[in-house]
Amino acid sequence: MSYPKKVMLREVGPRDGLQNEPVWLATEDKIAWINQLSQTGLSYIELTSFVHPKWIPALRDALDVAKGISRVKGVTYAALVPNQKGLENALEGGIDEASVFMSASETHNVKNINKSTADTLQVLKQVTDDAKKANLSVRAYLSTVFGCPYEKRVPIEQVIRLADSLFEFGISELSLGDTIGAANPVQVEIVLEALLKRFPASQLALHFHDTRGTALANILTALQMGITIFDGSTGGLGGCPYAPGSSGNAATEDIVYMFEQMGIETNVKLAKLLPAAKWIEEKIGKHLPSRNLQVYKSSL
Ligand code: HMG
Ligand code: MG
Repeated sequence: MSYPKKVMLREVGPRDGLQNEPVWLATEDKIAWINQLSQTGLSYIELTSFVHPKWIPALRDALDVAKGISRVKGVTYAALVPNQKGLENALEGGIDEASVFMSASETHNVKNINKSTADTLQVLKQVTDDAKKANLSVRAYLSTVFGCPYEKRVPIEQVIRLADSLFEFGISELSLGDTIGAANPVQVEIVLEALLKRFPASQLALHFHDTRGTALANILTALQMGITIFDGSTGGLGGCPYAPGSSGNAATEDIVYMFEQMGIETNVKLAKLLPAAKWIEEKIGKHLPSRNLQVYKSSL
């Protein structure tokens, strides 16, 4: 089996990780954590969401966070943007990349963003146009690709149709979301076989939640099929409040450890990332699922 020499990691902890936290994390703590993550070698951090504060109260300080961080050269700071209003706020916050999002299943899309997929496509076309005019790159998420909490199985034809539209709008990358952490390696193979016939591997990212412990196996399968962009959340924090039963993303440090041991470059320094994971665990005050964090703590 041949493997790529390097991969790219997208850190989504400050957004996906914190959006579902019932405990309020103070703005200055969010900023302090993002600043620590900026020093780890990560080249991409999704720092918050410019969504409606009533829908995601944990990130209601998005603008203060975006304005308050110390930016490090070479790091792309992205944020979730659902619509025009979100884009206006994100531009005020000085973000580098807009992450638009929608679901492959109709029911989750309506529960999550209050619109049909057809209406969402209209909104995202305009947001992508406007973001690009403002010199932002645009990344898109397609959620529930590997299963929907309401509709269960999601037909691959639906995934392809929506991905086609998003790429037509001019997104630079599509992140395929296993929102509820239900995917398995055989399913990853089937989905990627279909998508790689239409889209280059260099424009596809994988976003695995680890609800059932299959995230690393899924990442390895995707890697073997040529994917080199993976989303992770430091500590394994996270979940979607509108996807019952979903838990955190694959922990960034577990992904980094696996790749490092395989001789694949991530550019992330575990010696810096692990203290950042421990720091956020202590701030949030609950045990986080990351395996490497447990090993690190027991070594202290
Ligand atoms: P809506 O209520 O349909 O919005 O919500 P609307 O357009 O009808 O506007 C209603 C009011 O909201 C108006 O204010 C707007 O100005 C305001 P009013 O005139 O009544 O005073 N409004 C906003 N305010 C602040 N920021 C905005 C905004 N937009 C409208 N951006 C909306 C639609 C999309 C806003 C709402 O449903 C929402 O915020 N949803 C966010 C849900 C969310 O963040 N979910 C989690 C992220 S997705 C995820 O986790 C999956 C992912 O990780 C991938 C995976 O795991 O698969 C990405
Ligand atoms: Mg997610």
